[in-house]
Amino acid sequence: MAITAHNASQFMRRICTAAPIMPVLVIKDANTATDLGLALLRGGLPILEVTLRTPAALDAIKVMSDLPGVTVGAGTVLNAKDAEAAKDAGAQFAVAPGATDNLIEACTALDLPLLPGAVTASEAMQLLDHGFDFMKFFPAETSGGAAALKALAGPLPQIAFCPTGGITAQNATQYLALPNVICAGGSWIAPASLVEQKNWGAIQQLAADAAQMPSSKI
Ligand code: 3PG
Repeated sequence: MAITAHNASQFMRRICTAAPIMPVLVIKDANTATDLGLALLRGGLPILEVTLRTPAALDAIKVMSDLPGVTVGAGTVLNAKDAEAAKDAGAQFAVAPGATDNLIEACTALDLPLLPGAVTASEAMQLLDHGFDFMKFFPAETSGGAAALKALAGPLPQIAFCPTGGITAQNATQYLALPNVICAGGSWIAPASLVEQKNWGAIQQLAADAAQMPSSKI
């Protein structure tokens, strides 16, 4: 079954209203995935992005996709091969830093909802032509930050974004206050040092703080 870009965006908009922050996870050891997923879930962040940047990522997705209440997607999905591997591992969505026609076609054919990346008006308009109206704004902080995203809301109010890249506990609320932001993504919720220490309590607290952030939620 194939999913349309419009339906993919609808799906992503729906799940991303569950929490203001989507943790971006770089998992080195799949054996940590259950405890990490549960800490984030208990903190109030049920939508997780596991980046395909480590050899453990696909196994971690498999583990997390079995956790009740967790919705896990694959991040750093760059091409059809990544999309297939993500789907096979149980990812319920794919996130990309940008977008290519090949990736869009592959995710459509795989029935894998895609959150594609855009940072300029032209990139956003091209994705809108495909049917996407929810996009990752990446890399957010170095691309003009919240001010740039606010400016895009003027001519492109029909597009919502999930900014990621340089988002922190300190600057996230600037983004979440914008009318065209549904949620923001970031890796600060699960720092490698805390995962290595298996400090699940501290990660749960970071997640709880993020889950409480005020959001305009369009
Ligand atoms: C990424 O894909 O790396 C995300 O955008 C996370 O960026 P961050 O590490 O700056 O939060």
